[in-house]
Amino acid sequence: MKYPKEYLDEIKTRLKVSSVVSKYVQLKRRGKEFVGLSPFKNEKTPSFTVNDEKGFFHCFSTAEHGNIFDFLMKTQNLKFGESVKTLALQAGMRPYTFSKADEEREKAWKEYMSIYSEYVDFFHSELLNNSEIKSSLDYLRNRKLSLDVIKRFKIGYVRKNFNIFENLQKKFSKKAIKECGIFYFDEKKNSFVDRFRDRIIFPINNISGFPIAIGGRIIQKNSFFAKYINSPETQFFKKGNNLYNIDRARRLSNTLDQIFLVEGYMDVIGLNNRGIENCVANLGTALTEKQILILNQFFNEIVICFDGDESGYKAAVRAAENSIKELQPEKQISFLFLPEGEDPDTFISKNGKENFIKYYETNKILIHEFLFENLKKQSNNSPTSLAVLEKKLRWLSNSIKDPYIKKYVLDFFLGKISALTPNLSKGKQFAIKHVASLSETKKIYNESISITKEQLQEYSMLYLIINNFDFFKKNITILNNIDFITNEGVQVFPKLFELVKSKDEINPNMLPLENNLLKKINKFASVKHISKNIQRDENKLKEIFLEMKKDLKNLFLDRQISELESKFSSDMDQSTLNEIIELKKLQNNN
Ligand code: UTP
Ligand code: MN
Repeated sequence: MKYPKEYLDEIKTRLKVSSVVSKYVQLKRRGKEFVGLSPFKNEKTPSFTVNDEKGFFHCFSTAEHGNIFDFLMKTQNLKFGESVKTLALQAGMRPYTFSKADEEREKAWKEYMSIYSEYVDFFHSELLNNSEIKSSLDYLRNRKLSLDVIKRFKIGYVRKNFNIFENLQKKFSKKAIKECGIFYFDEKKNSFVDRFRDRIIFPINNISGFPIAIGGRIIQKNSFFAKYINSPETQFFKKGNNLYNIDRARRLSNTLDQIFLVEGYMDVIGLNNRGIENCVANLGTALTEKQILILNQFFNEIVICFDGDESGYKAAVRAAENSIKELQPEKQISFLFLPEGEDPDTFISKNGKENFIKYYETNKILIHEFLFENLKKQSNNSPTSLAVLEKKLRWLSNSIKDPYIKKYVLDFFLGKISALTPNLSKGKQFAIKHVASLSETKKIYNESISITKEQLQEYSMLYLIINNFDFFKKNITILNNIDFITNEGVQVFPKLFELVKSKDEINPNMLPLENNLLKKINKFASVKHISKNIQRDENKLKEIFLEMKKDLKNLFLDRQISELESKFSSDMDQSTLNEIIELKKLQNNN
């Protein structure tokens, strides 16, 4: 029985090949790939490579090749189903149970895909060969599209008075044709009508390159119909999970860092026509987290380039707010705003590839800078408006999932705000004053790559203790039952605890901390940005510290769980699994 593709894809999206492989093979990064000693052969020089973007491993000395499932099957002697189970667990997913419905779904998917392929191929060939509809080909040629690009995108044209429904019925079940989204039922005529008739059609492929939906453009001017229509969502086509041209663009990810995200079909096609092939479109819907995840899987930089008009700008703001959540270390999201009235297609037709690239290089703006500029535009320097600005910026940075990015984006925003409010930024503390410039932020960011989540968490807690002795002295029980995780933390925390308990007055010289550690705490404790506010409010301080205590506990459990998971994936032992389940329960209750 086959696992549904979506389930396997979900596992693949969650687990990088390198993280699966590195449990068994020591890997070193080399450019975009990882290398290590082959697990298939005794060797001294590494010939085994792993490519996360393409999602496979390859062994040059034995020619073994495959994805994460193949890797476990080949190296751990597992059956396919066992490797799926192991990896699903590692990915934090529930084991899959098969049903009759799955079998039917698999059958339905094959039929669905075949209907679309047949439809797309037929009307593509019509566009190229049928002289009756030459005007549609002329339309595309007048837009300066090359024949090569028309073929690459399998653009077609659906003749007005032609209904392919009957032809399809000879090969496919009526049910499947009715449900595929190409036809709608016309009550008056009592028949199924092709919704794309009299339109140029653009096939939308899934990530593996199979057509699963259609977009259709009208070519008559002043038509009363919508300019574009798209297939409705079906069992196999969900708008927010797809991107137009992702199947072709993703193949470029080993040579190119950027992907251009544009609004429309014709933008993707126009860019391709002028030699920019690393582009996709989200087809007039709001950008989803899933789409960002897909793009990040392949590319390091997403460049969002919407139309140079008000609706393009608004869509960009919305896209920025949605996608900043997904920002990850070593990945970038930036925005490119085109001159008023242009879209990527018109811009590149007028100016060519080189000028488009030049324009991109000089005008792109990073996501956090754009978000700040956009909000600042809406505020004046009045206290209430600045308060709203700060609130919104904190809310935005708080929505970011990755803790490092969250911290540095917040730092960037606060730096910008303190530049607007110079009189507020004075004050004395043990802590260093926080730094406003982005280059400084970047420097700290680079340094912090070597610092773990656990360290970051502990630094913030230590920072609060050091800066609030009086409070902790009064509330000493709050320091009970804390398990520090890192070596530094394990050594230092008990001494600090002792100090708070035993001394009435504390000055910096008495701190049982090495200077070096103190410096790191001052530099990396993200809580320092808010500490001034919470120091005035003991309840707030308590609340925040308790929250941190919880987070540290979770990190502690995370660590234990992941150790057990790698143990489980090699021993497949029920008792290990039970332990994992227990720890996860603890974590949920925390
Ligand atoms: P645009 O109107 O910018 O289209 O809509 P375009 O891609 O520049 O096309 P041309 O150059 O006029 O031929 C951008 C995208 O928004 C969706 C389509 O996906 C389109 O590609 N859209 C637009 C619709 O779904 N319906 C519409 O009526 C218009
Ligand atoms: Mn256009």
